Amino acid sequence: MTGLFSRKPIAEESSRGLVRSLGAGDLIMLAIGAVIGAGIFASLGTAAAGETGPGGEVIRAGAGPALILSFILLGVVCGLAALCYAELASMIPQAGSAYAYTYATLGELMAWVIGWALVLEYAIGNVAVAVAWSGYFTSLLSGWGIFLPGWLTHGYFQVTLASDPAIRALAETAPQFAGFPILLNLPAFAITTAVTIVLLMGVKESIRANAVMVIIKLLVLAFFVVVGAGHIDPDNYKPFAPNGFRGIHQGAAIVFFAYIGFDAISTAAEETKNPQRNLPLGILGGLGVCTLIYVIVGVVATGLVPYQQLAGADPLARALEIAGLPTASWIVAAGAVVSMTAVLLVFQYGQTRIFFGMGRDGLLPRWSTKIHPRTRIPHISTILIGVVVGIGSLIAEENSIYDLVNIGTLAAFFLVCIGVLVLRMRQPELKRPFRVPMIWLVAPLGALACLFTIAGLPSRAYQMFGWWMAAGLIFYFVYGYRNSVLRTGRPVAVDEWE
Ligand code: ALA
Repeated sequence: MTGLFSRKPIAEESSRGLVRSLGAGDLIMLAIGAVIGAGIFASLGTAAAGETGPGGEVIRAGAGPALILSFILLGVVCGLAALCYAELASMIPQAGSAYAYTYATLGELMAWVIGWALVLEYAIGNVAVAVAWSGYFTSLLSGWGIFLPGWLTHGYFQVTLASDPAIRALAETAPQFAGFPILLNLPAFAITTAVTIVLLMGVKESIRANAVMVIIKLLVLAFFVVVGAGHIDPDNYKPFAPNGFRGIHQGAAIVFFAYIGFDAISTAAEETKNPQRNLPLGILGGLGVCTLIYVIVGVVATGLVPYQQLAGADPLARALEIAGLPTASWIVAAGAVVSMTAVLLVFQYGQTRIFFGMGRDGLLPRWSTKIHPRTRIPHISTILIGVVVGIGSLIAEENSIYDLVNIGTLAAFFLVCIGVLVLRMRQPELKRPFRVPMIWLVAPLGALACLFTIAGLPSRAYQMFGWWMAAGLIFYFVYGYRNSVLRTGRPVAVDEWE
């Protein structure tokens, strides 16, 4: 049994010899690039309005205008976890993020569990972003007078699980196959395919494009705030918290999706100048900026229309439209499409890096470490992930996917908070370019904050997560346990990897 908990030694130096060129400002830009997307443009609606099932049963209570308190709460939860991420990232700057940290701190089995949970964050997260992208893209097309049939813009589960009778009616009018309605989200499938093709061509261009897309995101949200602020009706803020703390808590559990991605910048630890100072500044600064933006957008969105009307696939564009601002609504929809494309690129890229780390340790089959000789891209895993995300996007329902992604990511955050403490106790002498201040307070509070946020998720999230983890453990014992480099001593050849 000890083999299950064997830990991977921490390498003193990275072999990649990267150049330290990033300052705190660059890190903040990176964080905004990875973070702002479907969470604020789409899941905000469900967080404010709540969700009911097809039979009218309450799945989650909405926060109402008190959504801004959900955002502030999450800023604190993520801030605690982010500090712990920063310490581990500065010590263990390897591809694989939380997976690599856990391997070095809590051992192989926990590392596998986290690696498997990170698939939820990155690959399955992209299913939700693609569906949200499709919602905005469809509203953009309708602004041009192009109306795609509903059965080609909504997935099977999106329709059959919907409480909105208009959406459920699609199942009646859609073409049938063997008695089942054909309901496919073609735009979501098309964007994931396009992103996969771009990534296969090379990644440098997409990284450079990040800066442009960050500026577009910020401009569009600023535009939403400035235009929307002039049309706020103070009556919409009453009642402020229609479901009390329960609504704020359950709203936070879904809109947590809006914060996911800041952990991606922790992987830049090795390329950061003066990481002791710049890493916490970058991570906390990025989080602080995003929290502030979210609070302001939340104030305007819930002030524009009664919060119940924010439910739906494109709440920000819809709010402007209901307020009688169709041109502004169209501009925001266009900006949302660009913002979410950036998130799709970063996350799909991140997933291949995590698979690469796991494959190099022998926990995943050889396809994960195959590199294309010309483009230097892990092409097989890029294609495989593209296919899985594409098929998921065709049929998925976004709210349940947000829940599944959030529980997986929070589980990873939880273990990072525990891992940083364990490593302080086990190896206090190791060099730590960044140290969490007041670790005995910050790490346990961070772990508790993650559990608290998980507690706000609906029960279906626990069920889906349970099934997901059961599948992962079966795979580990069938494959990873027998092929682990640490246990077998047989290194994995990384074809064409420098
Ligand atoms: N935080 C990212 C988004 O909202 C995942 O799209």
